[in-house]
Amino acid sequence: MSNLNKQAPDNHPTRHFRSLDIEKIRADFPILAQKVNGHELIYFDNAATSQKPLSVIKAVDTYYQSSNSNVHRGAHYLSDQATQQFEQARQKVQAYINAANREEVIWTRGTTEAINLVAQTWGRQNIKADDEIILSSLEHHSNIVPWQMLAEEKKAHIRVINIDADGQLDLSHFESLLCDKTKLVSVGHVSNALGVTNPIQDIIKLAHQQGAKVLIDGAQAMAHSSVDVQQLDCDFYAFSGHKMFAPMGIGVLYGKSELLNSMPPWQGGGEMIEKVSFDKTTFNQIPYKFEAGTPNVSGAIGIATAIDYLAQFNSDDIAAYEQQLLNYATQALLKIEGLVIEGNCPNKVAVISFNIVGCHGQDLGMLLDQQGVALRTGHHCAMPLMQCLGINGTVRVSFSFYNNQQEIDQFVQALIKAKSMLV
Ligand code: ALA
Repeated sequence: MSNLNKQAPDNHPTRHFRSLDIEKIRADFPILAQKVNGHELIYFDNAATSQKPLSVIKAVDTYYQSSNSNVHRGAHYLSDQATQQFEQARQKVQAYINAANREEVIWTRGTTEAINLVAQTWGRQNIKADDEIILSSLEHHSNIVPWQMLAEEKKAHIRVINIDADGQLDLSHFESLLCDKTKLVSVGHVSNALGVTNPIQDIIKLAHQQGAKVLIDGAQAMAHSSVDVQQLDCDFYAFSGHKMFAPMGIGVLYGKSELLNSMPPWQGGGEMIEKVSFDKTTFNQIPYKFEAGTPNVSGAIGIATAIDYLAQFNSDDIAAYEQQLLNYATQALLKIEGLVIEGNCPNKVAVISFNIVGCHGQDLGMLLDQQGVALRTGHHCAMPLMQCLGINGTVRVSFSFYNNQQEIDQFVQALIKAKSMLV
């Protein structure tokens, strides 16, 4: 269903990743070859947004130079070209996530919009007073606030799955929360703040046994793993292009067709209509029913091109290489006195969230930026998680497969220097 729960590989330096030539891969990402504040850029903010390979940048450029037009409605060559590319991109995503049909792939602006779409359509149609929606303590605000808004409107209740001290979901607590009132379980595949991978296959199975629907927030998973939505059997899966090497402002909501067909439209106008009159308006079929207004055609083409880019590599090799970076960096960081890693557990993607006793995260972030290191500090849009961990925030480094051990060495040296300026 995804390769995120595979055993982490050993950390032997001679471990061979056959399909990966990291230096060649780095050359595919032009933004990496620059200096920031007089230092080689070390980009460790991949959980916020990944960088884009030249093929994606060129595909967007080519679209605007040769095919730009509005889709589905123009009576001319350029519109046909744009429509074909837009719909081919949908098919590419369908195949990539193994959706049963292309109509199950809805274009959105990103994960946040996809979750809001489900809350405002399926949610408003199906959640009633006293119903329960289960989330987890790990969630990003985008997978909390839309459900709080819905719960308030419907007088429904949010229930929250506990985590243990290492940031792992407490499955037995989840089981104890499931009841006749549970209508929806909405959890992240991977925590953006800690990198912890959740046991979503178990969560989906248990929720379905209770008759609840399941939405998976896949924003942080797609850059690290391919996903098979049919094997997972999730009802909805949401993700963003910009975290998986594609442009910003494009994302996907996958939904099972019987659910999407049963849901009312959300935003009105554009391709979502069938027939409009002042007496009665009727709506288009899925996926168009949920795609009001002129869509982000170049973004869709960008996602398709990012999928083609990733297809040249073995996804198990990417996951294993990233695990090696994670292990290497974890070991190096733990040697720094006073450094505490939050969410230090086995099932993680290449994200490390930490604090150093006596140092404010923002100060560390600023001092590291001065040395060319890009990372994120603060609550990571996961304030309830920070409350649960009893901290205000963390310093977060997040790796991609274009990062290397040399960058980690330089980062650790820069961090030691920053720490020495603060403590
Ligand atoms: N959700 C993104 C992050 O974790 C922006 O940084």
